[in-house]
Amino acid sequence: MFHVTFSWFLSRFIVFFTESPQAKEGKLKLASYFADIVSKSCELVKMDMITNVTEYEAIAKEKLPKMVYDYYASGAEDQWTLKENRNAFARILFRPRILVDVSRIDLTTTILGFKISMPIMIAPTAMQKMAHPEGEFATARAASAAGTIMTLSSWATSSVEEVASTGPGIRFFQLYVFKDRNVVAQLVRRAERAGFKAIALTVDTPILGRREADIKNRFTLPSHLILKNFEGLDLGKLDKTSDSGLASYVAGQIDRSLNWKDIKWLQTITSLPILVKGVLTAEDTRIALKAGASGIVVSNHGARQLDYVPATITALEEVVKAAEGRIPVFLDGGVRRGTDVFKALALGAAGVFIGRPVLFSLAADGEAGVRKVLQMLRDEFELTMALSGCRSLKEITRDHVVTEWDRPRIAPKL
Ligand code: GLV
Repeated sequence: MFHVTFSWFLSRFIVFFTESPQAKEGKLKLASYFADIVSKSCELVKMDMITNVTEYEAIAKEKLPKMVYDYYASGAEDQWTLKENRNAFARILFRPRILVDVSRIDLTTTILGFKISMPIMIAPTAMQKMAHPEGEFATARAASAAGTIMTLSSWATSSVEEVASTGPGIRFFQLYVFKDRNVVAQLVRRAERAGFKAIALTVDTPILGRREADIKNRFTLPSHLILKNFEGLDLGKLDKTSDSGLASYVAGQIDRSLNWKDIKWLQTITSLPILVKGVLTAEDTRIALKAGASGIVVSNHGARQLDYVPATITALEEVVKAAEGRIPVFLDGGVRRGTDVFKALALGAAGVFIGRPVLFSLAADGEAGVRKVLQMLRDEFELTMALSGCRSLKEITRDHVVTEWDRPRIAPKL
């Protein structure tokens, strides 16, 4: 058999080399066309085989330039909080209730007055066109197809207007406060005009966290891309520095003097609700309430700012208690499973935001990847609800989980 196959290939090879250049070119074109089909089919099969959101990361790592993958993946310094954001979820266990009729499960919820399909939303992540040419457009389309909220980063590679032009959808705008307050006022007005429904004010970044991979890689935005919201303001490019280009940009442009009084200032330039993103303590929650915040995002910036802060799921409950139900509390950081979503809701979150899973699925498979991430998390969350005996978000309670900070349950005396 081997002999016959080998002789056939040898005869084709000899024929090929005795043919005219035109015939050769035709055959090469055909071969490359078929190679393309084979590689696309392999890619489709590969994407089809993905069964959880974490699997996209390895594909993204293979596809992306090292500088880009490292920028998305890294946390600050020792990356203790980066690991802890995941590990802390794993230490929370379930107390499922059984024999509940779960033939109908309702995942819908209302966030700041907007009805969405599930309590899983998209966190702001910067520079998405580094992951995929469609970048924020693909994310926006995937979010609206899933009936959920996308938060656009100030440092997006697509502008607020461009993202709005992708079609209808409920969108929030993440805000960094620049030293030049006119830039901020202009940007907030543009977001408002483009139909964004809330401002998520990042409050944990007076200085950029030390992400060592970015320093080693001399991270900068690839030259064909621009921070699109700042095009025309001469603030759209990152300089190539001997450090992280983003760290230098933040040092040069971001207002370190930002403080609680500025929430009032922000309220003078916008009527949009303001979510304070980056709260980790009860103390700051109480101040945020007094300052008129419409919501809080318990966030450690994907573990990219201060290392050795607790995982967000660990900090969540103290914030929820301090908020006293007066404003919604959300969480981002480490959400990779439907079980994580359930745990966050059981500890009092009104919803969660996902960041890296969006970037990695975008890199691996564009809009289809982000759609699949949202669908997989939705399905897993629905499954967790069913297996815990919950038919609606209201039925998810604190008693459905047990944490390491819970007092041991006293066994009733018989
Ligand atoms: C952007 O927000 C970043 O943390 O890199």
